[in-house]
Amino acid sequence: MNQLDLYFEKMWNDYGKLNPQARAVYQSLTQAGEKVVNDHIAFRTFSHPKISIDILAQHFIKYGYVQKANYVFSEKKLNAKHYEHPEGHYPKVFISELDLKLVSPLISTAVSRMCEYVLDTMVQDENFLIGGRPWMASFDLYQKIASESEYAAWVYAHGFRPNHFTVYINHLKKLNQIQDLNQFLKEHGFKLNNFGGEIKGSPADYLEQSSTMANQIETQFEEGVFKVPACYYEFAKRYTLPSGELFEGFVARSADKIFESTNK
Ligand code: NI
Repeated sequence: MNQLDLYFEKMWNDYGKLNPQARAVYQSLTQAGEKVVNDHIAFRTFSHPKISIDILAQHFIKYGYVQKANYVFSEKKLNAKHYEHPEGHYPKVFISELDLKLVSPLISTAVSRMCEYVLDTMVQDENFLIGGRPWMASFDLYQKIASESEYAAWVYAHGFRPNHFTVYINHLKKLNQIQDLNQFLKEHGFKLNNFGGEIKGSPADYLEQSSTMANQIETQFEEGVFKVPACYYEFAKRYTLPSGELFEGFVARSADKIFESTNK
């Protein structure tokens, strides 16, 4: 196993702690004889110069990842970029950031305070992306932030770590249609995100996605331990473009609804 494989393995372990449901899904698929390949791994951050997309992306660029596309999610006030590795078997990396120019003073002030705890030396270490939150969070502020942006509240509560991994449906042997996979998941007791319908996108978008709803995880706050939404597991089926190439990008309008997998 090389350094990059190890890095992803550490991420999967951290993610599994916050999302035992993903481990359970992974296990159900494996027991059904499927081999799980990751389509992409997603991270969330803010457009603050200390922790922006470009800063976090350095940890992947170092391993040879290349930036491929930019996305704007106007309704959610998010910008995003995705990165690909020249060796196609590595997952794509999707990093989004909340645009601080577009949020209330409550959120921009909270982010400035959070960033006081983020030292440059921490950010330069690749383990920053599995390190969680370097600040102590208040549940009262968490709730206030959540009433404006569930996305911002997620980063405030959980810090820096994978928000989701994604099963690459094309690589499943029997369950390689999203409808069949969704049916399988529901039969195994997993609850799917139904915002905007179970399946986001269509073959005409060259991408279909679905996801579980995030687990509620006991999280330590200043005031005590509270259950808040953590991570979810995503599923992606990709289609071939008229050019004959597989579509490797993302569809803003679908991702908009997928972001809601961490809503309460
Ligand atoms: Ni995703």
